[in-house]
Amino acid sequence: GAPLKVALLGAGSVGAQTARQLIERREELSQRIGAPYELIGIAVRRLDAPRDVELPAELFTTDAEGLIDRADIVIELIGGIEPARTWIERALRQGKDVVTANKALLAAHQVEIFQAGREGGAETWYEAAAAAAIPIIRPLQDSLVGDRIQRVLGIVNGSTNYILDRIDTAGITMEEALDEARRLGYLEADPTADIEGHDAAAKATILAGLAFHTHVPREAVHTEGITRLTGEQLVDARRDGFVVKLLAVAERLHAGTPDEAVNVRVYPALVPHDHPLAAVHGGKNAIFVEAMDAGDLMFYGAGAGGVETSSTVLSDFVLAAKRIVRGAPAEFITFDAHLRIADIAEVASSW
Ligand code: HSE
Repeated sequence: GAPLKVALLGAGSVGAQTARQLIERREELSQRIGAPYELIGIAVRRLDAPRDVELPAELFTTDAEGLIDRADIVIELIGGIEPARTWIERALRQGKDVVTANKALLAAHQVEIFQAGREGGAETWYEAAAAAAIPIIRPLQDSLVGDRIQRVLGIVNGSTNYILDRIDTAGITMEEALDEARRLGYLEADPTADIEGHDAAAKATILAGLAFHTHVPREAVHTEGITRLTGEQLVDARRDGFVVKLLAVAERLHAGTPDEAVNVRVYPALVPHDHPLAAVHGGKNAIFVEAMDAGDLMFYGAGAGGVETSSTVLSDFVLAAKRIVRGAPAEFITFDAHLRIADIAEVASSW
């Protein structure tokens, strides 16, 4: 048959690496899919913007909607709410699977996005939307679907982990660590989402929904960043046997009682120094899952980076393409547990 037509939205650090691999590894990836594909275009805001990777100029277009309308699969890597939401919903309503790394959008509008998918019979693939290169979406959604998860503890923001780790291990101040992180490109030009905990809260929303089979509104996530922490607090914590980590915690409360509920929160937590999460250094991410039957599991790796994140994006692309080639029906996650979302005031445990 004709090759599957792939549209890419965005050519930032992840987008450019994804485009490069879609082109360079076309034969290999086509074999894994079982059918040929073609990257038909890359939608960008500015044709002349500098790129991380040299890509064929004829692929670039500013007409994202025209590109979506010609595609069979859409990969969205522009981030942010709009125009990403409009473009994703347009593709899904046209019956086209979407691969996205957009945590902020999914946290705010996953119900509407999944609804658009149901209307069009198309699936949304978002393994890269939480902890980038770490496979955690499908482990929660599929591999652990028969278990009952008690708690998810995640270090899901690399830049703040880098900052806290540097204060802790190099003895520098918060100010110095922030400057260093900015110089090394760990922090965005506007670091608010990272240091105030909003990026981690978006990822927590997505992970909690999958872990507990219930919809967690972003507004329900108690969110505290690292801006009020001082170097002295980290030193004191270490003296007492703890490491301070910005954790995203999703926890089942009052299990097995009529009061059963889920609480989701992001805050600087005191992690015991011998807990595996205490050993997550630098800009790395990790998610520690406590399952009733499986016991404790940990997923560790890169939570950011262009080429690292392109790994999970390309995997989602292969899986989406395989579904289309097989003619298999789209699968939709259901938030059917309807667990009550508990307030932070109900949390009794120490972390
Ligand atoms: N800015 C994020 C982080 C990466 O520092 O982990 C993208 O979600």
